[in-house]
Amino acid sequence: MKSETVTITDNSTGKTVECPILKGTYGAPVIDTAALYKELGMFTLDPGFTTTASCRSAITYLDGEHGILLHRGYPIEQLAEQSSFLEVSYLLLHGELPTADEFADYESQIKRYNNVHEHLMRFFNGYRYDAHPMSIMVGVTGAMASYYHETVDVKNPEHRMQTAHRLIAKMPNIGSKVYKHGVGEPFIYPDNSLGYIENLMNMMFAIPSEPYELHPQAVQALDKLMILHADHEQNASTSTVRLSGSSEANPFAAISAGISTLWGKAHGGANEAVLEMLEEIGDPKNVHKFVDRAKDKNDNYRLMGFGHRVYKNFDPRATIISKACHEVLDDMDPNSELRPLMEIAMELEKIALEDEYFIERKLYPNVDFYSGIILRALGIPTSMFTVFFAMARSAGWIANWLELMEDPDFRIGRPRQLYIGSEKRDYIPLDKRG
Ligand code: ACO
Repeated sequence: MKSETVTITDNSTGKTVECPILKGTYGAPVIDTAALYKELGMFTLDPGFTTTASCRSAITYLDGEHGILLHRGYPIEQLAEQSSFLEVSYLLLHGELPTADEFADYESQIKRYNNVHEHLMRFFNGYRYDAHPMSIMVGVTGAMASYYHETVDVKNPEHRMQTAHRLIAKMPNIGSKVYKHGVGEPFIYPDNSLGYIENLMNMMFAIPSEPYELHPQAVQALDKLMILHADHEQNASTSTVRLSGSSEANPFAAISAGISTLWGKAHGGANEAVLEMLEEIGDPKNVHKFVDRAKDKNDNYRLMGFGHRVYKNFDPRATIISKACHEVLDDMDPNSELRPLMEIAMELEKIALEDEYFIERKLYPNVDFYSGIILRALGIPTSMFTVFFAMARSAGWIANWLELMEDPDFRIGRPRQLYIGSEKRDYIPLDKRG
């Protein structure tokens, strides 16, 4: 059978190269351009990686045209309705849903690892009380590398899986301490009589002087939110973790690099920016003004929580989260002070979805559009939103790191460039420069 290839011709020399076309389970086929440099002495240029596949992956599939998101083949809608964040993290790491025994073993291992070294507490004190929570996350997660460096051999599969379990176990502990540092309350240790999400909420909100009552709806809503953020294919932060990991850097250092990337408001920082935007709009009757600003070519204002590099139809996570948002507000606090913000959000979504500018550019609400309202309803301050995203996405980051380290094509990531700087020139001593 004739193998499928693309022929690329250099019209200036007439030389050609046959590049194989590779097909995955789903999605657009890719052209393997590895021979391009060898045969034609050329690289490809793709700023922003809009058409470049950086790896082979069996973890997550997303189809932006049809709004499909699958983790290890399972649709996000089914996972969000029927699974738990802890089970989804197992699925991402191990490739299959666990049996009851496997899940019990996994949960007990996560509980065994959920404490952090006492010395790590001191790192928090180095930060100002008003430091942005994400700056603390970057630093403290990076500092974890110092506790697991000599003892972690990244070439050893058992060490790698142990590291993945450690990360998932410790992220709620670190994230909740970031919050406690900001509000000046004592750190709360994990309580192994609680489940993963209950423990996270307890470490966030309990204080030693009185019992803390967990609200089952709040636990359920946070669990769902964490599932929706657990992984999302080769986005900027995941690609950062892979690139850092490709140098065989310590995995905690690689995760810290991913957290840095997530912080930006074009990525995970958008959930924080959405709430700020809704507050700035202030009233549903002002929505038009902000939509007009977003459309104005002379104004670089954008509607936060709208648009996505890959989803050009709808973001399936946004559909789930918008429903969860209504449920949380109805179940937990029918008279919530968040209702006006919700009304602004709904008006904004309605107007934007009917507007030619947004329709033409296929700009739909993304997962961040409603997630901030849920987090706020749970009592989580705006500056902590991206920390929750980071705790959830750690599962996807470390699953991708595991996959990278096992990849038979493993090599350091090293993009090329098109050099557009000065031609070679001679150095002129300072006293001779005009
Ligand atoms: N508001 C107004 N216009 C927008 C928006 C927006 N939110 N997003 C894109 N556009 C416009 C652009 O101005 C551009 O218009 P033009 O073709 O007339 O120049 C067009 O839509 C395409 O935009 P790009 O920036 O080329 O799209 P890209 O794929 O590079 O960016 C991104 C995607 C970064 C998510 C962008 O839509 C954005 O900035 N959104 C707001 C921030 C946000 O919500 N980020 C969260 C992303 S999801 C996540 O990380 C979980």
